[in-house]
Amino acid sequence: MAYHTSALVFALFSIFFVSALAAPMTYNVVSLGAKADGKSDSTQAFLSAWKFACASVKPATIYVPAGSFYLRQVAFSGPCKNNAIIIRIDGTLVAPSDFRVIGNSGNWVLFEHVDGVTISGGILDGQGTGLWACKASGKSCPSGATTLEFSNSNNIVVSALTSLNSQMFHIVVNGCHNVKMQGVKVTAAGNSPNTDGIHVQLSSTVAILNSKIRTGDDCISIGPGTTNLWIENVACGPGHGISIGSLGKDQQEVGVQNVTVKTVTFTGTQNGLRIKSWGRPSNGFAKNILFQHAVMVECPESHCN
Ligand SMILES: *[C@@H]1O[C@H](CO)[C@@H](O)[C@H](O)[C@H]1NC(C)=O
Repeated sequence: MAYHTSALVFALFSIFFVSALAAPMTYNVVSLGAKADGKSDSTQAFLSAWKFACASVKPATIYVPAGSFYLRQVAFSGPCKNNAIIIRIDGTLVAPSDFRVIGNSGNWVLFEHVDGVTISGGILDGQGTGLWACKASGKSCPSGATTLEFSNSNNIVVSALTSLNSQMFHIVVNGCHNVKMQGVKVTAAGNSPNTDGIHVQLSSTVAILNSKIRTGDDCISIGPGTTNLWIENVACGPGHGISIGSLGKDQQEVGVQNVTVKTVTFTGTQNGLRIKSWGRPSNGFAKNILFQHAVMVECPESHCN
């Protein structure tokens, strides 16, 4: 009897243990208190999901189901106990509609010191129109938040993500190594201020592929310290085109090296491809730059928007 009980317990324990090892843990933000109504504050639920995923010693998935989730400024910070976190988003993350709530916080959704994070799908709605109007009115306004930023992180994948109406930049890659963005869609008005699509700086081995960027400022901007950047099959416009720079702002500055921009279309943009610099002394530089197969399509804003 005693033997049978312990054998049974052992068998059950083994089944549990083996399946626990095989299946990645999934944390559904709704199970953790998030509400898909677009107005209840879901920030804490997302942070709880991150806390569990980040503390997991095996691969973890955070799942955001369909619906609209209101988030204040949120920082997903590492280092984590594993290097395989997938954030699968079927829904929309919505920023506060009052631009003052996140307007001075620098960014809205931030990943920092993480390694091995994949974001798949989802819409990020920065609700930037109020701030753009404030800026256009000439009043004093906050500078605005970047919608999605990766800072000091490695091995990042972003796929099939949409960013709408950011207050400032849509996506920033800063101090990162090995980043792949594909199937990204950026949409903001052609006259929205400082709404760069994707900004890369101080980062190496970054690929931006198969993406469509319609915005008010640079489609992709490339700052100091960018090396081994590959941009291919990107449609830009409206906006200001793809820019390296402005470089040489500081006297001591890391250079930009090995940038390939291939098969890009500019529709109704202010410029195509540019390398910009300040007119002052600096050791900054841009070298090994390849621009290839770029097409510019003339298009009055009224027809393109
Ligand atoms: C330039 O960057 C690409 C990735 O964009 C990389 O595959 C290639 O090896 C780099 N070339 C050099 C010389 O580092």
